[in-house]
Amino acid sequence: MKKCIIAVVCILCVFGLAGCSGTEEAQVRIGILQMMEHPSLDTIRVSFLEEMERLGFGDADFDHRNGQGADMTLLTSITQAFVGRNVDLILAIATPAGQAAAATTRDIPVVFAASTDPLAAGLVTSLERPEANVTGTSDVICVESIFALARKLTPNATTFGLVYNLGEANSVAAINRAKAYLTANGMHYLEATVTNSGEVQQAALSLVGYVDAFFTPTDNTVASAMPIYARVAIDAGVPIYTGADSMVMDGGFATVGIDYAILGVETARLAAKVLEGVPISELPVVVMQDFRTVVNRATAEALGISLDGLDPSIEIVEGR
Ligand code: TRP
Repeated sequence: MKKCIIAVVCILCVFGLAGCSGTEEAQVRIGILQMMEHPSLDTIRVSFLEEMERLGFGDADFDHRNGQGADMTLLTSITQAFVGRNVDLILAIATPAGQAAAATTRDIPVVFAASTDPLAAGLVTSLERPEANVTGTSDVICVESIFALARKLTPNATTFGLVYNLGEANSVAAINRAKAYLTANGMHYLEATVTNSGEVQQAALSLVGYVDAFFTPTDNTVASAMPIYARVAIDAGVPIYTGADSMVMDGGFATVGIDYAILGVETARLAAKVLEGVPISELPVVVMQDFRTVVNRATAEALGISLDGLDPSIEIVEGR
């Protein structure tokens, strides 16, 4: 009888302990809101997940949702679902996703990825010392170097067609800098704005005949329609200068841009620190600094632009 009681007590102990350790190590929950699908945002998500695994968060519960565009209603309903699930952290890929997350919660930490201008987008009021529950990485683009490249590669281009989504704060910030640069340098611009990717082809066509080149910054809406935009431009004999290498890979002509795989890694490092308990105010926004210059060979050939004798630091890529 005694033995029996001891056995029962032991079994209870074992189960009790197992139960305890199960709750102690509650699984980390991460809500990932990717604004939409296009190659650059996909690269960021994949390299974020790989780095999280390397940092020991491979067992976390990653709840990945796709926002399908710049529509704030849908993006916000997804972040509300994350708040409802009480996730430990929200990763928001691209500026509109970050804005939706930041507007939904003041408590759950939000780490944004690849916001071109987090100050202009209202994600943080200080890059050095984020004051609320939001920090992240920035892919600020050097608009001036992109136009300097354009002057080198296509010196006769003096009127630029600006194609972008006015609803993306990230694009508006870069477009304002582009306009200032063009005006200061005696050049001209015309604009065609879109509200969704279905409008990109028509917007580009509306400028054909009036512009010598196109410029589109890191605009998510346009990036997701890049192959169609590139087709229109090549048929019209006009180069597209872009904000991101992925847009050059998809048929754009040239850019000076950052490496988004590295940005994904940096974003994961920030997220890991947040999960380990470092206060957001001690985690400055990481602004990516390493730019590379990329030109698409097939697009250059189709446009009849010679790449002979280019500076060896310029990478010539084959495109997708
Ligand atoms: N910088 C964009 C934003 O702030 C996101 C982005 C990252 C992007 N890579 C891109 C947009 C490539 C277009 C193309 O939302």
